[in-house]
Amino acid sequence: MTNNIYAPTPENLDRAAQTIRNGGLVAFPTDTVYGLGANVYLPDAVAGIFAAKERPLFDPLISHIADIDFLPEYAQTDSRVMDLARHFWPGPLTFVLKRKDSDHCLDMVCSGLPNLAVRMPNHPLALQLIKASGVPIAAPSANRFKTVSPTTARHVSDSLGNKVDMILDGGPCKIGVETTIVDLTGRKMVILRAGGLPKEELEAFTGEKVYLSDGNPDKPSAPGQLLKHYAPGLPLRINVTEDEVRPDEFFIGFGSVSSAHLNLSPQADLREAAANLFAFMREAEKHREFSGIAISPIPESGLGLAINDRIRRASYHD
Ligand code: TXA
Ligand code: MG
Repeated sequence: MTNNIYAPTPENLDRAAQTIRNGGLVAFPTDTVYGLGANVYLPDAVAGIFAAKERPLFDPLISHIADIDFLPEYAQTDSRVMDLARHFWPGPLTFVLKRKDSDHCLDMVCSGLPNLAVRMPNHPLALQLIKASGVPIAAPSANRFKTVSPTTARHVSDSLGNKVDMILDGGPCKIGVETTIVDLTGRKMVILRAGGLPKEELEAFTGEKVYLSDGNPDKPSAPGQLLKHYAPGLPLRINVTEDEVRPDEFFIGFGSVSSAHLNLSPQADLREAAANLFAFMREAEKHREFSGIAISPIPESGLGLAINDRIRRASYHD
């Protein structure tokens, strides 16, 4: 345990903004998961994120902004992009857009790609921090590479310890799975990563079909979407019904099951299940008296798409 967890007082927010401006690393809560933030315009600071997470440099980061009007200054936009931003921001939706020509100092954030990922989080602390810093904040999930994303300040501290200068504590994240990432660089809208905003809501708003990227693990279109990405410390089996659970398995249930060690949502509410998912996986993997984890089937619609994506990756082994 480290003591770099800070209550979100005005003084601590000021100090965190100063830390960002000066090139330090600040972990902060968002609506989805905790992020590990640095000033996008300081490549050395951004490099510090990759080092702290032990994340490969080819895997680009999402920029977090606090003002929709800033978006056209930061990336190439058109009316479709701005309509989507006005409707869904702040919220659990990340856009992949074409970069502007002039922004070579963003090469580290974008891993040299011609595209840029950007979002506006729906969390007062995150928005205050970005505004007070005066710069967009590059932030991946605040966990070591290939572990589940943190949904509490304590998770961040357990995973990254003193590799981060400050952790702002905003309590548990409401949504609990990462943003939906939609590629808007082409004519079609393509989801690169299923997440906190259901595909159905994007389709309902635009009246257009939204495509899912083919998910080929050898050629992930969001470079971070490797097949084995969210790995708990115990082997994980998915789509396991109650009668199939083995006696030596820790059982994470969903809906009306009676023998679950933890239940993602007894009422079968996908929002509640998403919010509990990563914390329960962390809890389950602590139970080394079990030889594996089993998870109930989760419906493949709405937030179920994101939940199933995460647990499918977590269950993958080479
Ligand atoms: O909910 C979230 O999105 C959280 C919070 C902190 O905002 N962030 C997050 O970041 O999940 P991270 O780095 O763990 O995942 C970002 C994903 C990676 O898979 C990365 O490959 C993809 O976004 N990505 C970033 N920039 C991209 C780009 N220019 N083109 C395609 N994919 C990109
Ligand atoms: Mg991540």
